[in-house]
Amino acid sequence: MTQSLRLSVLLLLLLLIAVVVAVVVGGGKVPAIIVFGDSTVDAGNNNVIHTVLKSNFRPYGRDFYDGIPTGRFSNGRVATDFISEAIGLKPIVPAYLDPDYTINDFAIGVSFASAGTGFDNATSDVLVCARDDPIIYIYIYIYILSWFNLWSIGRSQGVIPLWREVELFREYKRRLETAMGKKKAKRRLMEALYIVSIGTNDFMENYYTMPCRSAHFSIEQYEDLLIKLAGEFFTEIYQLGGRKISMTSLPPMGCLPMERVSMSGEACVEKYNLVARSFNAKLETLVMKLNSNLPGLRMVLTQVYDFLQNIIQNPDLYGYDNVEQGCCATGRFEMGYMCAEGNPFTCDDADKFVFWDAFHPSQKTNRIIAYHNINTSLIQFL
Ligand SMILES: *[C@@H]1O[C@H](CO)[C@@H](O)[C@H](O)[C@H]1NC(C)=O
Ligand SMILES: *[C@@H]1O[C@H](CO)[C@@H](O)[C@H](O)[C@H]1NC(C)=O
Repeated sequence: MTQSLRLSVLLLLLLLIAVVVAVVVGGGKVPAIIVFGDSTVDAGNNNVIHTVLKSNFRPYGRDFYDGIPTGRFSNGRVATDFISEAIGLKPIVPAYLDPDYTINDFAIGVSFASAGTGFDNATSDVLVCARDDPIIYIYIYIYILSWFNLWSIGRSQGVIPLWREVELFREYKRRLETAMGKKKAKRRLMEALYIVSIGTNDFMENYYTMPCRSAHFSIEQYEDLLIKLAGEFFTEIYQLGGRKISMTSLPPMGCLPMERVSMSGEACVEKYNLVARSFNAKLETLVMKLNSNLPGLRMVLTQVYDFLQNIIQNPDLYGYDNVEQGCCATGRFEMGYMCAEGNPFTCDDADKFVFWDAFHPSQKTNRIIAYHNINTSLIQFL
């Protein structure tokens, strides 16, 4: 080979490598991340609605950029932020209702999630049940009174229900069409990665806390109702143009610090974990059904149950000291306003804790879960 031939072969090779790297690292195939769900992926939507379920105050966000509390229920970023960053998009996914962001930001990443919401309308708005059953209304009133005390009562109007998240998504789609043109917007919505993280509240904050559903449904019947609602929700997202959808499985709910304390002292509550496994199996069936019924849909159930259970059973593998309590306050029951700045019990290093408050993972756990989800499941979309 002559010198110049060798040189051009080398250049060609370099070019090839550059293209491959650009495709892999640049995340060429997923131009946007679109998030639905509850507090696990809320980026601050609840900041601008009337609800007691907020976290836009310290110590929430103390390990976020500049230590800013954003309304994320963690000491820092949530899993969807890490996923967005890892696939070459922005390091955070902003909340749709955050006035600091424009449609051009949301075109790359957006979260419609709202802390406290569920598949079931009655989870996000307890008054849904109270309308049918005045006795339940009184019960709920006493419950909220005892839980959130005082001033919040008159102002509590529930969080954003899932159907409303879909309405906001419809509005987003219209805004996207105006900003990019119909054709490009359609393509963006088809290629985007949809991440859905929801369901724990339906069981833990609704079925096992309020009488409204448990008085009328067995747990199996309630699971089936939620699966039906989930199927309707995913079908709507599909009809609006979504194709790459990841539903996150339920975690081992019985190991959340709040459940450990309220039921059995310190051990995980096996009854709740069993429900999570049973519901996850039903979700798996639903995903298979949707994939075969809706042409072009590529939906996946991203399993986090076993992975989280493994972390909880082997905390030292990941450098954790504590899996039973959250970092904030006593870590046994506090979240939202009860997780307040200046509480002498709040830990110094949240990286040593699986949970940040009594209900939500620490930033470190969110990061580990995000990378696990990419490696085991989301990689097929990238
Ligand atoms: C939930 O509430 C919305 C708004 O009131 C309603 O349109 C929808 O049908 C309800 N869903 C169910 C399953 O009842
Ligand atoms: C995911 O894959 C990356 C790169 O191969 C690796 O560094 C990381 O440890 C993996 N994380 C998990 C949680 O599996």
